[in-house]
Amino acid sequence: MKQLWGSGFSKELNKSTNDFNSSLSFDKRLYEYDIRGSIAHAEMLSIQGILTHEEFNLIEGGLNEILDEIKNGQVDFDSDFEDIHTFVEKLLVQKIGATGKKLHTARSRNDQVALDMRMYVKDEIQNLKSQIVSLLKVLLSLIKEHKETIMPGYTHLQRAQPVTFGHHLCAYFEMLKRDYSRLKDAYKRVNVLPLGAAALAASPYGIDRYKTAELLGFDDICLNSLDAVSDRDFVVETLSSLSLIMLHLSRFSEEIILWSTKEFQFIQIDDSYATGSSIMPQKKNPDIAELIRGKTGRVYGALVSILTVMKALPLAYNKDMQEDKELFFNAIDTVKACLLILPEMLETITVNKDKMLKACEEGFLNATDVADYLVKKSVPFRDAHEASGKAVKYCMENNLTLSDMKLDEYKKISNLFENDLYSAIDIKNSLESRKVIGGPSKEALEKVILIEEEWINKNEQN
Ligand code: ARG
Repeated sequence: MKQLWGSGFSKELNKSTNDFNSSLSFDKRLYEYDIRGSIAHAEMLSIQGILTHEEFNLIEGGLNEILDEIKNGQVDFDSDFEDIHTFVEKLLVQKIGATGKKLHTARSRNDQVALDMRMYVKDEIQNLKSQIVSLLKVLLSLIKEHKETIMPGYTHLQRAQPVTFGHHLCAYFEMLKRDYSRLKDAYKRVNVLPLGAAALAASPYGIDRYKTAELLGFDDICLNSLDAVSDRDFVVETLSSLSLIMLHLSRFSEEIILWSTKEFQFIQIDDSYATGSSIMPQKKNPDIAELIRGKTGRVYGALVSILTVMKALPLAYNKDMQEDKELFFNAIDTVKACLLILPEMLETITVNKDKMLKACEEGFLNATDVADYLVKKSVPFRDAHEASGKAVKYCMENNLTLSDMKLDEYKKISNLFENDLYSAIDIKNSLESRKVIGGPSKEALEKVILIEEEWINKNEQN
């Protein structure tokens, strides 16, 4: 097949060269952006008197028809074409004749592909942001429901101090809020128009790039034509935001997996979000959470791949950059799928409050409170810590909890222990004493919940 650029070539493209070179099978995803970008470009050309109004109308009509036809599934994407840009242009010329050939005035596929990608990334960032908000809404309702559900907090995966399930989930709320704001921030740098850079050195036609930016809803234009066509920072930056989202989702998934084990039994995943084993009938496997955890790998992979592709590329456009697409599309699809299923699964979990509380009671989670009790009686913290350690040791040897241990037994460790110790080391009291904002008490969490609610109200619309 003769290529768009083929007039200076004495031979047609080899089939295997074309197959290797063609990006149509995956960049067809960009068709709508390609067409919308072309319409805006043609409109700007007509405003500038480079195309007549009649020519623009013809081009616009043709492109809109092509858009409808593709949307309605009436177009076969022909693998003979090199990419979505040449394909759409060919369809246009077939439809409206020679005028279609004027569309590419003052433009190159180099600035066109940069434009299409930026338009696509902008839309996907907005989609991801609204998915994050949906997940946060589910999280917030769980946080509210469980602001008094006591559970062990861990360090080194060892039971450490009591927190609440709501407080624990609120940690993920914070992570996802940061993810949201990272995407919002990245958006600013995506929202810059590369079109008008043409192949690398702009063009001699009197085009108005600010007009094109305005027509397409870009806030600004790229100020250097070489940078405009060779920059894929916005892909890397978005992928790094996606990687952090996956990092957070995978940590959360890991906890869901742990909590649903027989060893923890803190939660139960609903049957509709778990699978069975074909050989062991007693099993209920947390496949969804495992897959989210596992899929994190491909998103990181995409980030590292694109960083590697871009490394040391000379200015300006190089075909290497075509490699951004499959990886990026796959990463986007992956994160969207994870953000879709996670809130569904979370909404259906059962929380075993009793098991969580029991784990606190058995785990000496109030040992710090024993020390704090002595500190309040002016014992230096180091000595108080040692006294509490002795009490824990005694309990372990005698199979007791710190609340079971008798006052006379405590007195053998320190004379300062009195009967009010028991209420001071009560798990619930211990928790409620941590009233400082950011802490796990109900009082503190309720203050944070108000802030999170306000955040959701503010960001739901944007
Ligand atoms: N398919 C190419 C890409 O994805 C489009 C730009 C091609 N430009 C060129 N001069 N061959 O990067």
